[in-house]
Amino acid sequence: MEKKRIGILTSGGDCPGLNAVIRGVVRAADNLDWEVVGFIDGFEGLLQPGDYRILDRHSTAHIMPQGGTILGTTNKGHFISKIAGGDKIGVAPETVENARDILQKLRIEGLILIGGDGSLTTGQQLFEAGFPIIGVPKTIDNDLEATAMTFGFDSAVACVADALDRLHTTGNSHKRVMVLEVMGRHAGWIALYGGLAGDANVILIPEIPFSYDKLTDFINERERDGYKSSLVVVAEGAKPMGGAQSVRTSAVAGEYKLGGMGEQVAAEIAARTGKETRCTVLGHLQRGGTPTTLDRILGTRFGVKAVQLIHEGRFGTMVSYLNYQVTGVPIAEAVHKLRVVNPSHQMVETARAVDVCFAD
Ligand code: F6P
Repeated sequence: MEKKRIGILTSGGDCPGLNAVIRGVVRAADNLDWEVVGFIDGFEGLLQPGDYRILDRHSTAHIMPQGGTILGTTNKGHFISKIAGGDKIGVAPETVENARDILQKLRIEGLILIGGDGSLTTGQQLFEAGFPIIGVPKTIDNDLEATAMTFGFDSAVACVADALDRLHTTGNSHKRVMVLEVMGRHAGWIALYGGLAGDANVILIPEIPFSYDKLTDFINERERDGYKSSLVVVAEGAKPMGGAQSVRTSAVAGEYKLGGMGEQVAAEIAARTGKETRCTVLGHLQRGGTPTTLDRILGTRFGVKAVQLIHEGRFGTMVSYLNYQVTGVPIAEAVHKLRVVNPSHQMVETARAVDVCFAD
């Protein structure tokens, strides 16, 4: 008898831990005697004639430490359902029907979609069109409301902390101000956690607009106090009070690209304090490389739960980490709700208590 089949795809920006999810899905499915079909390059693999490969224990052995995704991904293409600013556009009806044909032809009884807010929005549209979708939340930004944590975040934070440790020693040797721009369009979680772990002196996040006067007063005061250097972490989406985010390229489909705020902050510090200042943009280093142990475990738990949700027929559900348990929540409740940093969050208070300046 032919085995039942589960489909899986990775969509949107990659992050460490995607392969841990894939491996978890394959093993949990195999234990239920299901076969797993991996679609290539996200939803694009659902286009006619279908781009996929069968995944089994052997082809997914030892993939957990690998960054990226063995299936490939894209944040462009035929299945974009949101454009910049969060406006919905929806996937074209003929594309939806083509994808339905592929799933039927391949006998897919449940489709696991690993993606962020945009991809899950597409997933919800497909679920409403009758597709058997299960969502797995993914983003290094950790900014989805319906889950306390997404995998990839911890690895990104570890990357930021490592970069700050390195900048600290060179900054001290040269008595410089070292600025580090990190990812975080709308939410400053990476800057906040990474900055705290890496002993940053200043953390600038989108949720707390900053004042250049306060920033440079703080840096001058540190110098008077005898500190040789200062570390400033800038989320790419941070903005000065009364100012705007620094946009690198405007969006056509998908989100506009941010970038340049680190350089702006560094230039302003140098001009106002006269101190030698350098800027490093950490960029996609935060998205690459091997996942931390936490992300490997969270990814594995998410993969196993996704298979259980298919087994229970709970389509239209997204796995979620809440109160130390992996559970399921409706995708519809999970999308379009970004979890940003509340300026009175305990993490902000903790950072302030150890002398971190937010320049507000
Ligand atoms: O949403 C995740 C994220 O890493 C953002 O923090 C960042 O702005 C964006 O992706 C970068 O996307 P791309 O890989 O398309 O440059």
